[in-house]
Amino acid sequence: MESGSQLVSIGTFQVLKLPLGFIRVLEWLFAIFAFATCGGYSGQLRVSVDCQLDKASSNLSIGIDFAYPFRLHQVSFEVPLCEGRKRERLFLIGDYSSSAEFFVTIAVFAFLYSLMATTIYIFFQNKYRENNRGPFIDFIVTVVFSFMWLVSSSAWAKALSDVKLATDPEEVQELMSACKVMTNKCGSVHGPRWSSLNTSVVFGFLNFVLWAGNIWFVFKETSWHKGGPARFAGAPPAKQAGTFNQQQTYNQDSFDQPGGYNAQGDLEQASEYSPVGGPISYSNQM
Ligand SMILES: *[C@@H]1O[C@H](CO)[C@@H](O)[C@H](O)[C@H]1NC(C)=O
Repeated sequence: MESGSQLVSIGTFQVLKLPLGFIRVLEWLFAIFAFATCGGYSGQLRVSVDCQLDKASSNLSIGIDFAYPFRLHQVSFEVPLCEGRKRERLFLIGDYSSSAEFFVTIAVFAFLYSLMATTIYIFFQNKYRENNRGPFIDFIVTVVFSFMWLVSSSAWAKALSDVKLATDPEEVQELMSACKVMTNKCGSVHGPRWSSLNTSVVFGFLNFVLWAGNIWFVFKETSWHKGGPARFAGAPPAKQAGTFNQQQTYNQDSFDQPGGYNAQGDLEQASEYSPVGGPISYSNQM
């Protein structure tokens, strides 16, 4: 009967050895990786414009810097027009801040929640169990976060592929007037490094897997999974204890005097929980 409730009556830091506690710790580590690799990103691409007719106005190393949250339409840079000393100011294309910020926000909140949950498992086990409210809330929040990880990681993965396209040196060259003139030579010096952002997407989906997997372990803590007293989640603790004792005596009675228990036991149970002719099936469950 107690097999489902693993958090009850175990040593304080033993909690971390259970799947639920252990996965929570992984969750906050992985959340840190997710928001640090995305939120801390800054990248640079570098292109060259070689004006064949007017070598002096060439610029062979034009650096373009961008960073989280990827409001690329606000990233400006100056390139030569290859007509005397004239230059033009250009902007990258696209705004990917909503996906990026959504992803980082989910990661930060997931971090905070899993940190808080771990703390509660360790220091407030009794409060967590009280009225079964802790496991219930924990279950709902875990389901919501799993879903949010899936959505935000997918959105961010899509945004990242768009960011890669928008900051591809070959694409950026197409924005420059000078590069449309055949006599000028435009080239890419280097593109941005993507390893950190690729890592953030991987950790996003890893977090989804972790949270989705943890749904099961949180579910095991709820009363839905367990049999026995905790099934009556709405009933106050005293009543639960009473019911439990009744059932025990009821079972003992059934050994002692097969005929005697029916009237008493069935009546009390029927009045409390099973008005719809439950007693028989109920005693079978026991
Ligand atoms: C080339 O462009 C960079 C900006 O990326 C600028 O700092 C630099 O002064 C330019 N060089 C010349 C020779 O105009």
